[in-house]
Amino acid sequence: MSTMAAERFIPEREPKRLFEITERTLAALRRGGADLSQLGVPAPPEDSETELWEDVSVPQARARTLAWRNSMAAADHDDYLKWRFADLDDTQRPKALSDWLGSVVEAKRQKARPSTMHFIVSGNIGSGKTTAVAALGNEASDRGLLVRFVQHSTYLTWRRPDGGPDGMSRYEIRRRHVEDPDLLILDELCGEMDGVQTEFVRRETTDLVGSRLASGRPTVFSTNLRRDGIKAVLGERLLSRIEDRAYLAKVVGPDRRMPHKPLDW
Ligand SMILES: Nc1ncnc2c1ncn2[C@@H]1O[C@H](COP(=O)(O)OP(=O)(O)O)[C@@H](O)[C@H]1O
Ligand SMILES: [Mg+2]
Repeated sequence: MSTMAAERFIPEREPKRLFEITERTLAALRRGGADLSQLGVPAPPEDSETELWEDVSVPQARARTLAWRNSMAAADHDDYLKWRFADLDDTQRPKALSDWLGSVVEAKRQKARPSTMHFIVSGNIGSGKTTAVAALGNEASDRGLLVRFVQHSTYLTWRRPDGGPDGMSRYEIRRRHVEDPDLLILDELCGEMDGVQTEFVRRETTDLVGSRLASGRPTVFSTNLRRDGIKAVLGERLLSRIEDRAYLAKVVGPDRRMPHKPLDW
């Protein structure tokens, strides 16, 4: 080989055997999110943050964080993104929330089903339920879970024909809330249900709860209704399915939203 030719020698451009997989090819496949095990490249252990997966896992983690933040924005709850367990009062049950999240994260790591699939936060209006479940969502998102937040009535509205935001289809709404999230936070269970046909509410909610249970994906509910109020909307059968695998945390406290003094007008 002449000196000139030697200087132009680029290993990556060397002639290679047909179908030979070079480092360069692998890097391109990884960027595209290819399943390298299909190529006989051993996958790294699940919990090791090896460099091999960095360029795939980083964008995926960003997408999960974004999904959580977008769902909070869509619910007009951006101001709840700041809450963490440490900010909650004891009445908001930060320890129970944190222990349960621990069990959910561990179950996902082991690809197992959490033993307690549902976490129900009940309490009066303004007692701090949404704050508590938002703190849970923030912490869960920080720990790498795909979490989404939606109010029950909003979900039902979106599931009506042409009811989805930004032209989203009914199918897409279901996929986003029922199929995809590791953790779904369904705020205000059976809230604002006046005038919503019970048949539709039951069918859609049964589908949501049943599908998530079947796939082993946990759900959080918050509500200011008592058991009887929820039973009136969902029926005993569905309510028992929700209660069956649930931890119930009652948040007891005054309405924090009440003005201390009535306005003078
Ligand atoms: N631990 C807390 N410390 C201070 N303010 C809180 C706390 N928890 C909730 N709040 C405030 O109380 C108000 C009502 O809380 P929210 O969670 O919306 O109640 P709920 O969902 O039960 O109706 C909100 O303005 C919220 O910021
Ligand atoms: Mg609330």
